[in-house]
Amino acid sequence: MVNILLAYRIRGGFIVTYTSVETEEAKLEKFMERIESGDKIEADDWMPDEYRMTLIKLISMHGMSEIMGALPEKEWVPRAPSLYRKLGIMAKVQDEMGHGQLLLRVTEDLLMPYNKNRGDLMQDLFNGDLKFHNVFHMETKTWADAGIIGWLVDGAAIITQTDMLKASYGPYSRALQRICAEEVFHAQHGESIILALAEGTENQKAMVQEALNRWWEALLMFFGPASKETTGSSKQDLTIKYKIRTKTNEEFRQIFFDKYIPRILSLGLTIPDPTLHYDKESNMWSYQQPDWNEFKKIIKNQGPRSEARLNLRRHSYEYNSWVRDALSATIS
Ligand SMILES: [Fe+2]
Ligand SMILES: [Fe+2]
Repeated sequence: MVNILLAYRIRGGFIVTYTSVETEEAKLEKFMERIESGDKIEADDWMPDEYRMTLIKLISMHGMSEIMGALPEKEWVPRAPSLYRKLGIMAKVQDEMGHGQLLLRVTEDLLMPYNKNRGDLMQDLFNGDLKFHNVFHMETKTWADAGIIGWLVDGAAIITQTDMLKASYGPYSRALQRICAEEVFHAQHGESIILALAEGTENQKAMVQEALNRWWEALLMFFGPASKETTGSSKQDLTIKYKIRTKTNEEFRQIFFDKYIPRILSLGLTIPDPTLHYDKESNMWSYQQPDWNEFKKIIKNQGPRSEARLNLRRHSYEYNSWVRDALSATIS
């Protein structure tokens, strides 16, 4: 606190008084004490700009990845091998769009001081200023890809997202409660597809192996580089500092290895990395690094399906603008 001297001129003289103003340093100190004690920060609370910006980047990217992430699997809705599978994958696609909407609402509150809304975020996506997750730029060539996305991509997302259930930002942590519950169904849905194929014909087994071979690097990239030296930027230090998450990218990747390597091998599949092994000295999995230059290209919308999916998203956003207009007219 600092005391500021105020002097008011009145008829025949002055009134002199003091008022107390909290300095930025004092506010920051109080803020850090709150998050250290496990207190939740709410949308209307004071927060440092760095915290707000970190949340906006993280949650808008998460939300947009949910929406863009529905598209690779949407490609398999008309081609699902049975009605039962079609209903399953349709429900999953619908859930993912719902996750996206929920998260963009959370971001919209954070954007208030900047006078931006969800429509602006969508334009940022189309302009290439807002990125979406590397895995959703990839091709889905076969039905096994739909299985791998559910089993391993949603499985990877569960690892990072359950860590953030205790995030210091209340609206995000609460949105994640629902999202994580639904992600568990998605992972089981994917596992069910993979189990059916892995126990099927030789062609079906080969289809799963071929899909895993194509997805392995993208799965390693999913967690991001171990340090910012690899790709030039990384937000992991800030998210840990502000107790939005507790673990580093590498720690998440190692948890993924611990959980999924034994499961993949138990199905008789081969992981396309001859160097992969558990190092007993470091208690970590040692693995071949993915091509991080390729990762940088992919997240700049130069992946195999980046342009096609962005075009589809742009087209549906423009084509369906009348729905948004009708809804906002009803609400207001
Ligand atoms: Fe999701
Ligand atoms: Fe999901």
